[in-house]
This record gives sequence, C-alpha cells and structure tokens, in this order.
Amino acid sequence: MVDVKSICCIGAGYVGGPTCAVIAYKCHNIKVTIVDLNQARIDAWNSDKLPIYEPGLEEVVFDRRGKNLFFTTDVDAAIEEADLIFVSVNTPTKKTGMGAGMAADLAYIEGATRRIAEVATRSKIVVEKSTVPCRTAESMRTILEANSTGSIHFDILSNPEFLAEGTAIKDLLNPDRVLIGALQTPEGISAQKSLAAVYQNWVPEDRVITTNLWSSELSKLAANALLAQRISSINALSAICEATGADVDEVAYACGRDSRLGSKFLKASVGFGGSCFQKDILNLVYLSQQLNLPEVADYWQQVVIMNEYQKKRFVRKIISTLFNTITNKRIAVLGFAFKKDTGDTRESAAITLIKDFIDENAHVAIYDPKVEHEQIYMDLAEPGVVDNRKQLEKSISICGDAYEACKGADAVVIVTEWDEFKSDQLDYQRIYDNMHKPAFLFDGRLLLDAAQIREIGFKVHIIGKNELAGTA
Ligand code: NAI
Repeated sequence: MVDVKSICCIGAGYVGGPTCAVIAYKCHNIKVTIVDLNQARIDAWNSDKLPIYEPGLEEVVFDRRGKNLFFTTDVDAAIEEADLIFVSVNTPTKKTGMGAGMAADLAYIEGATRRIAEVATRSKIVVEKSTVPCRTAESMRTILEANSTGSIHFDILSNPEFLAEGTAIKDLLNPDRVLIGALQTPEGISAQKSLAAVYQNWVPEDRVITTNLWSSELSKLAANALLAQRISSINALSAICEATGADVDEVAYACGRDSRLGSKFLKASVGFGGSCFQKDILNLVYLSQQLNLPEVADYWQQVVIMNEYQKKRFVRKIISTLFNTITNKRIAVLGFAFKKDTGDTRESAAITLIKDFIDENAHVAIYDPKVEHEQIYMDLAEPGVVDNRKQLEKSISICGDAYEACKGADAVVIVTEWDEFKSDQLDYQRIYDNMHKPAFLFDGRLLLDAAQIREIGFKVHIIGKNELAGTA
C-alpha cells in the first residue's frame, strides 16, 4: 500500500477545486496540486475572487493555499510529483458524431490520461473522479499501459464524486459515503486501501465503501438517475395536482412520511438543471442502447422527457395566463443559476424559459445574486438561442436587484429558489406597486406563501397548486 504524500488533481472545476481543497484542508501532511489548462481559471483560484461560488469554499482555500494547496497550469510537473492523480475533467454530452446528444464526450478524459502516460516516470495511482460511462477505466488502463515505458505500473480506481453544488463543502466535510472501486486484484485492492486511508483522515471508516470498478462507475450514473427520477416523478404529479386541486406540497409531504420513500427530493419545481442530471441520464440511456437493452433505455429517457415537459408546461401556463400573448410585455425572471447557492448556470431551466420568452417577443429582465452578467449573455447567445449580442441586448436587461427587474413588469417569474426571494426577505408590496396591473406572479419553485402574496393583489400561479384548491 502506498502512503500518499502528494496528490495531483487534473481539472480545477466545480468538482476538482472543492474536492481537493478539502483534502488539503483535512490532510496537512499531503501536498495537493490542482492543475488546469485554463490559465484564467487557475489565476482566479490564486486570487481573492475564486472562480466558483460555494458557501464555505473561501475559508477552506484561503486556509491552505500556499501551504499544502497549490493551483497551477504546470500539469506535467504536478503529474510527475504525485503519488496519486485525480482525473476530474469535464465529461460533457457529445455534440457531434456517434452518440451525439447522448453519449459522454470522453476526449478530455483521454487527453488527461495520455498526458499522465507521457509524463510519469514512476508508478502512480490514477483515480477517475469525473463521472464516466461504465467501463471507462478499462480504456484508461489500456492507454496508460500502451504508452508507459519500463517498469512503471498504473493502478486505476473509480472514486465518483457525490457532492451537490451549493452544499459542496458541507457534503465533502461530512459525506454520506465515499465510494472507491478497484479491480479485485492484489494491486487494485492495495491502491483502494491507499485512497481509503486519505479519506479516513476525516471520514469514518464505515462510510468508505469499496466495490469493484464497474459497480463504482455505474453507481454514480445510477445515483443521479434515481435522484432525477424522483424530481420528474413529483413534477409529473404536480401536473395532476394543478388539474385536480390536489396540492403538490401536501402530496409530497404525505408520501414522504412513508419511511420507505423518505421526504428528500420530492420538491416540485420548474424542472431540474445543472451539469449532471441530464447528462448522466442520457449517458445511461446511451449505455443501455449500446448494451441492446432498449426497454431500459426508454425507461430512463422518460425522466428527461418529463423534465422538458415541465419547463414547457410552465411557459405555456405563463403565456396563456397573460391573455395568450407576451409580445412586448416585460417579464421579470428572478434567478438564473440552476439552483440556489451556486453561480453555475449549466442546463439551468432559466435558459430554456428565457429563450421561449424571447421567441414570443417579450422583454426579459433578469436578476440573479451570483451569476455574472457576461455568463448570462454567453448562455443566451448560444447558437440556436439568439444569434447576436445586439439583438439579445434589445430582448433582455440584466438587473442589479429584484426591484429593478420587476419595475414595470407584467409578470414576475421565480426560477431559482434563492432565499432572498422568499416572502419575508423581499418587499413584495413594493414590487407590486411598481408593476403593470394586473400583476402576475409565477412561482416555479414553491417558494412563496400564495395566500400572503394574493392578499397584496398579485394574480399568483404556483407549480402544483390550483388557484381553486380547497373549493368544492
Ligand atoms: P468543469 O468543467 O467545471 O471542470 C473541468 C475542468 O477540467 C475545466 O476547468 C477544464 O479546463 C479542465 N480540463 C479538461 N481537460 C484537461 C486536461 N487535459 N488537463 C487539465 N485540465 C483539463 O467540470 P466539473 O463540473 O468540475 O465536472 C467534472 C466532472 O465531475 C464531470 O465528469 C462531472 O460530471 C463530474 N461531477 C460534477 C459534479 C458537479 O456538481 N459539477 C458533481 C459530481 C460529479
């Protein structure tokens, strides 16, 4: 078993950065170097304004940076020095070629793996931290073995990350479990023990789960698919609630009290976003198709279909409520991040909604407390959304606070569940007073107390709730 003294993490993103910063925070005797090809990202990690927002992240990074935590673009030096290397690069959905729109693009994994093979002059433990299709470790091993020289030996582990953005530091400091998969050979098991020993500096032994490589790889896809499936399930029920007068919060509570079901992840919403859920389910769908399991593929695909339906259903409701047209109307969108406490906008429902509003010739006023304005332009200016910046600038305004966004609006749409949008944090009377009348409010996150908001005078629609609920 190797006593790990030096760790390199390839990929300084939402996962690599926080994960390895916490390792440095908890293991002062291990030198942790986080590398990336993106100079701007590394510069930000070395500055006072970190490239990502996560509660608690600054404390961890500022505590260890320059001591046993380093950020650099010198990938080769960090690989060479490390006993153990995390590969934490992006694995986006392929945009072109075979499996486009479904399969994971493994080019970054392969690039990082080839770099390790070229640079390493001694044996290493290589850890897949990225989320990958089942059996990716086999390809990594083949590349490493074919490109390595002499007596160098590589052990490959799978150690998928289960952190959730917005609570990453909390999750990393106190994980439900750490999963480490290895080939069940003496070398594989020994490498597994080496990585387990790193985590055991702060994670109780019984929370470190060891499995074979393929179970570990598949468990990450499975966990995300199961979580997203719960969201799509409650969202499907929210449509029934709106049509019948049942209240989705009451249904979720009643179901969640069943100890077999549990209460978590039963919150209806405008649909899930984030870089992982959709990508990982599509990955699972593609894997199932490749394994000639079409029924399995169709089953998981439905989770994504339901998510798209939920977003479109919400847009349709907004348009029909606003007398079937939003042309030239001002729609205030509160929240652009895919969920609260993160500045990440990948696959955010806000992007789909705003794109639809723009297509209907509405003017969209956007406010988010953490997302950079330039990021909003970039997300909306993607090909197929709006093709030029000037046109986009006519269709949207990005505002400094919620009051500015809502001023003169015909409708307010809550897309992200930021605490500051709650009824007791925001002065909804002030917002109402400055809106066109009738003033509509659409709550895509079940954040508001409808009765209280209605009393002000708003016409309110909340996902999963019927305005006539409670009446005969
Ligand atoms: P990200 O896009 O934020 O970061 C990946 C980084 O890797 C980028 O900065 C990129 O420049 C860098 N990179 C790519 N190839 C490189 C190379 N050859 N050498 C050096 N740097 C390289 O991605 P994120 O969100 O951190 O995700 C990473 C992986 O973790 C993905 O597979 C994702 O599915 C998985 N994951 C993500 C979670 C999340 O909440 N974002 C949670 C759990 C897993």
